[in-house]
Amino acid sequence: MREKLKTIYICSECGETSPRWMGRCPSCGAWNTMTEDVVAQPSGGSSLKGSRAESVLGGAGLTAGKLSETSISEEQSRIVTHIHELDRVLGGGIVLGSVVLLGGEPGAGKSTLLLQLCGNISAHYEVLYVTGEESVRQIKLRANRLKVPQENIWLTAGNDIDAICELIEQKKPDLVVIDSIQTMHCSSVASSAGSVSQVRECSSRLLNVAKRLEIPTFIVGHVNKDGAIAGPKVMEHIVDTVLYFEGDKTLPYRILRAVKNRYGSTNEIGMFDMTTQGLQEIDNPSQLLLEGRPLGISGNSVCCVMEGTRPVLSEIQALVTKSGLSTARRTSSGFDYNRANLLLAVLEKRAGYFFGNLDVYINVVGGLYLSETSCDLSVCIALLSSLLDKPVGDKTVAIGEVGLGGEIRNVNSLEQRLREAQRIGFTKAIVPQHSLRQLNLQEFQDMELIGLNYVRDAVRALEG
Ligand SMILES: Nc1ncnc2c1ncn2[C@@H]1O[C@H](COP(=O)(O)OP(=O)(O)OP(=O)(O)O)[C@@H](O)[C@H]1O
Ligand SMILES: [Mg+2]
Ligand SMILES: [Zn+2]
Repeated sequence: MREKLKTIYICSECGETSPRWMGRCPSCGAWNTMTEDVVAQPSGGSSLKGSRAESVLGGAGLTAGKLSETSISEEQSRIVTHIHELDRVLGGGIVLGSVVLLGGEPGAGKSTLLLQLCGNISAHYEVLYVTGEESVRQIKLRANRLKVPQENIWLTAGNDIDAICELIEQKKPDLVVIDSIQTMHCSSVASSAGSVSQVRECSSRLLNVAKRLEIPTFIVGHVNKDGAIAGPKVMEHIVDTVLYFEGDKTLPYRILRAVKNRYGSTNEIGMFDMTTQGLQEIDNPSQLLLEGRPLGISGNSVCCVMEGTRPVLSEIQALVTKSGLSTARRTSSGFDYNRANLLLAVLEKRAGYFFGNLDVYINVVGGLYLSETSCDLSVCIALLSSLLDKPVGDKTVAIGEVGLGGEIRNVNSLEQRLREAQRIGFTKAIVPQHSLRQLNLQEFQDMELIGLNYVRDAVRALEG
């Protein structure tokens, strides 16, 4: 019997279906998320939901085992890729049976990273690389360029998810790469590849195989205009780990970030440099971020943020100029706009520096987004430096949170941050006064530590 096709609308956030288009999803309340889809049965919603409820780990005749009697060792449970930046973001390697979604903009380097990963582990593991986007020859070209060892990498070009799952079951590789989920197609879903229901169905089938056979699986997902992974948010819910590969044409490097990780911290970032030989790890990001920093110019200040467990030095620039407009312009890139306004207000009220009729621009160099309050002091110093046109010392770093009372507050991991600054060659650090007592001063003998109580004393950071 031929099934009748029917057009429905599916919310890409929560998966709610509706026979009509709606501006707002009735279930989760998100705007503009209902996308058109085609399903085979009139009761499309229920068939989709049914497939989602399909058993992943075990079907009928379910039994239970004791947690204490389930034995695994730490080495057995993870594949270490020896791409340190990737291992760290994953939480120490790839967990067996985990499904990792790798999202990123076109050209960010998703395929490159995964091919390098395959090559790196191929000495000990068999890998199956499924491409739905490129031909086998194109992958081969890339592998040659990247000088990836090719012995244990199996390659196939295809789109049919059932055939792919069958191949995985048959071959039982140690790792599977699917590039990309938007090109995969399942014949039991009527809509075209890349639609919400296709993406959901295909990923749930892959998940099923991955969990059952304990094969770690990397799935590439494209991102849409808004920067979210195209396809339903529910996909992010079913996979174990969601990584984003952020790469900008204007940035000299790419950042790999975990936005969800069932087996590791989501604070860690990995940094890579895209070269002709592929992605190179950046193990000294501070050096890179401070490269080419203008010296002896007012408005520049250096802070130190914790990117996960790693301290990273970053440069903050401020420019304060006379406004030509009736309302002064304020912009902030790489630093929270509201926080910047708050700090300006604190500087006015608690330290007596007026920015009222002045344009203020704040910029974090290098494309990092500084969300930590430990940069407050550094931002204030950059602002004062520009306002008074007095440069901050080239070898000065400032770390501290600024409260509404103008007080400088402690930050976590101060020693670690100072150690990083010392390593890069900084000789002067402006820190909260309270923290000085807790520091092991022996360790920072070749560093001049200046403790501040109030933001009005921040001018002490300036030269001249
Ligand atoms: N010969 C080369 N030398 C240096 N960089 C290159 C070279 N060839 C490709 N690249 C880089 O590789 C990037 C593309 O990498 P890759 O194909 O892995 O991206 P992707 O995220 O998989 O993209 P897509 O979403 O289109 O599949 C390009 O943006 C480019 O910067
Ligand atoms: Mg690709
Ligand atoms: Zn919804």
